[in-house]
Amino acid sequence: MTQKLLFVCLGNICRSPAAENIMNHLIKNIGWEERILCDSAGTGSYHIGAPPDQRMSAAAAKKLGINLQGQARQFQKSDFQDFDLILAMDRQNYQHILSVDRSGQYHDKVRLMCDFCSRHTLKEVPDPYYGGAEGFNQVIDLLVDGCEGLLQYVTTNQPESPPSLPTTQS
Ligand code: 4NP
Repeated sequence: MTQKLLFVCLGNICRSPAAENIMNHLIKNIGWEERILCDSAGTGSYHIGAPPDQRMSAAAAKKLGINLQGQARQFQKSDFQDFDLILAMDRQNYQHILSVDRSGQYHDKVRLMCDFCSRHTLKEVPDPYYGGAEGFNQVIDLLVDGCEGLLQYVTTNQPESPPSLPTTQS
């Protein structure tokens, strides 16, 4: 069964495309590209159609050697049906997503990204947009931690175990 993950921030040009691309990188490392699909979206509409922010791309390239791909889109109601898990970068994004689900029937699909971190204690991925390069580097560190925990979570209790997980490698 294919699992579908959606990462959500405000603009869909910094945090959520970074999370999507980092997660895809980890998924590729264990050969699970056919089994876990990732996408990202923003709660806001300001940057629809834009590529990932150059400062975010620079941090991902420098720290992880990966190129961020993507084109911003806005979170929409149909995402609740289309995705198994929706990962909000901060509490504001989380509340926005829940406000679109008036019935509350999809509440259990929505989680905070930092819930999956094991090495960091921050509860939210801070918005780096108006800050300096250090903020973008911090976003990458948090997202690597969160994505590793998330990968562990989504690959657990699957019919076939992955060959190895980043968090369990020696
Ligand atoms: P993101 O960052 O939500 O991580 O993509 C932001 C991008 C743009 C703005 C704010 C945050 N903005 O205000 O335009």
